[in-house]
Amino acid sequence: MIDLNGISYYYQGTDESLSRQALDDINLTINSGESVSLLGANGSGKSTLLKLLSGLIFAEEGSYAFDGEAITKKGLSVPAFSKRFHQRVGFVFQNSDTQLFCADVYDEIAFGPRQMNLGEEAVKERVSGIMETMELDGFEHRQPYHLSGGEKRKVAIACVLAMNPEVLMLDEPLNGLDPRTQRWLAELLVRLNEAGKTIIVSTHDLVFVHEISKRAVLFGEDHRIVADRVTDELLGDMALLKEVNLVDKYYHHHPGEGHNHFHDHRY
Ligand SMILES: Nc1ncnc2c1ncn2[C@@H]1O[C@H](COP(=O)(O)OP(=O)(O)OP(=O)(O)O)[C@@H](O)[C@H]1O
Ligand SMILES: [Mg+2]
Repeated sequence: MIDLNGISYYYQGTDESLSRQALDDINLTINSGESVSLLGANGSGKSTLLKLLSGLIFAEEGSYAFDGEAITKKGLSVPAFSKRFHQRVGFVFQNSDTQLFCADVYDEIAFGPRQMNLGEEAVKERVSGIMETMELDGFEHRQPYHLSGGEKRKVAIACVLAMNPEVLMLDEPLNGLDPRTQRWLAELLVRLNEAGKTIIVSTHDLVFVHEISKRAVLFGEDHRIVADRVTDELLGDMALLKEVNLVDKYYHHHPGEGHNHFHDHRY
């Protein structure tokens, strides 16, 4: 479903010398129905990759095909193609503030379905279903701007789910959520994947990562993929995780038990 070939991406500065490489020679295939985690230290390129996969930025080097069709700036400038692509691929930003702009939560979640020209009755039905799933009942008339960080995240996820995309990409979805909400969201992602959605998540959260996804793609600080393996196996490879600065000396992993620590067992 997703095919990246030799992708390199540079953020352009005001002149050539300020251009900064964010992805280096990325080759990646993700099949429909998979659930994949992107791991890597700060600045390794996870958000950049998700933005590229969602068609928000375009690489000058390499190619990206979605369901066999090339995703290019030119291709996505065709409104019908762009609309269909963005309906199939949903993206939840690392920072929810960039995503929320409506006057109240109801309008925010209804925005996508309205763009899809569903009738107002169908929109209402869809929005209330999603609000129930996201445990947002009672938030209809709240202003997104005045919600807490975790509440904003839930609304941002609700907005994307309201489009019923086939592929759901979430950038650090567990960040800043309380432990109960983290667990609830991790379970929701598992259910969505079981229901057939392809899920791609970037995260630093090694505790939840192997619950959410069977496959993990690890970025090095040189912006290249250094490993693409079964999550459990990858999380057990201490030497590798240390090398990419993803763990400190207190981290250890118990294979297959859903059990990772950042503390020393002696304490
Ligand atoms: N808009 C931008 N302009 C210039 N450089 C950028 C921009 N966004 C990111 N970068 C740089 O590109 C590299 C990759 O950044 P990216 O945001 O993809 O990392 P990340 O893996 O998501 O990190 P984090 O875990 O901190 O979210 C970093 O070196 C970063 O400084
Ligand atoms: Mg990021």
